[in-house]
Amino acid sequence: MKTWIAANWKLNKSPRETKAYFDQWFLLAPALGLGPDLGVAFFPPATSLDLLSQIQQREGLYFSFGPQNCYSEVSGAFTGEVSAAVAKDLGADFVLLGHSERRSLFHEKDDLLAQKLRLVQSLGLKPMFCIGESLQERQRGETGEILRRQLREGLQHAVQGSALVVAYEPVWAIGTGQVASLEQVAEAHALIREELISLGQNEVPILYGGSVKAENAGPLARIPHVNGFLVGGASLEPDSFAKIVKAAKV
Ligand code: PGA
Repeated sequence: MKTWIAANWKLNKSPRETKAYFDQWFLLAPALGLGPDLGVAFFPPATSLDLLSQIQQREGLYFSFGPQNCYSEVSGAFTGEVSAAVAKDLGADFVLLGHSERRSLFHEKDDLLAQKLRLVQSLGLKPMFCIGESLQERQRGETGEILRRQLREGLQHAVQGSALVVAYEPVWAIGTGQVASLEQVAEAHALIREELISLGQNEVPILYGGSVKAENAGPLARIPHVNGFLVGGASLEPDSFAKIVKAAKV
């Protein structure tokens, strides 16, 4: 199964900063062993998708990219939304869906996410579908139930046989510096794998996200059913992101 290391830039980096980033990235990337077994994907702000498309056309080998969100329709009267069809036209491979910031700050619910996921798959793009429990849910002992529900509902309209990547991101570990313990990650990933198989979703890479850094990436990458990472803060510098990619090679 392919390992993916994904960079979620959130609302960071101007086009000028993005160009400078890739100038450095292309110095680092040739030594990372990227290829059919190990890929990187960048999720820049939507305003830089066109720029990544141009950079990719010049230096295509070293990354995939996509938007951090899309709408459940490809076009129409939906002010402020991002079209997955336009992203596809620009050469995107992925769409990030269901990130906890989309769920909590922008009130995206499982049903809407399920519609988006179907659209993304029907366009031939790969959803990188995020799930994860809040601190309160973990403390109440509801982690397993929440993860199963988010998977079942989010994938209710999934196109069987279409590509899919799942990212497990405990909400309390995102941007907090508090990475989940190896045991917590192992337990959650095993449960997600089991639920995916029961939904007929085989061969789905499961990424871990939440305060991943070069220092903790190695041990996390060796946990069974951890097939890569979704990285926020530590993906903003090419150096630290490249170190994570290296550490993730198992
Ligand atoms: P973080 O963010 O690596 O800064 O914790 C991860 C994410 O939000 O995807």
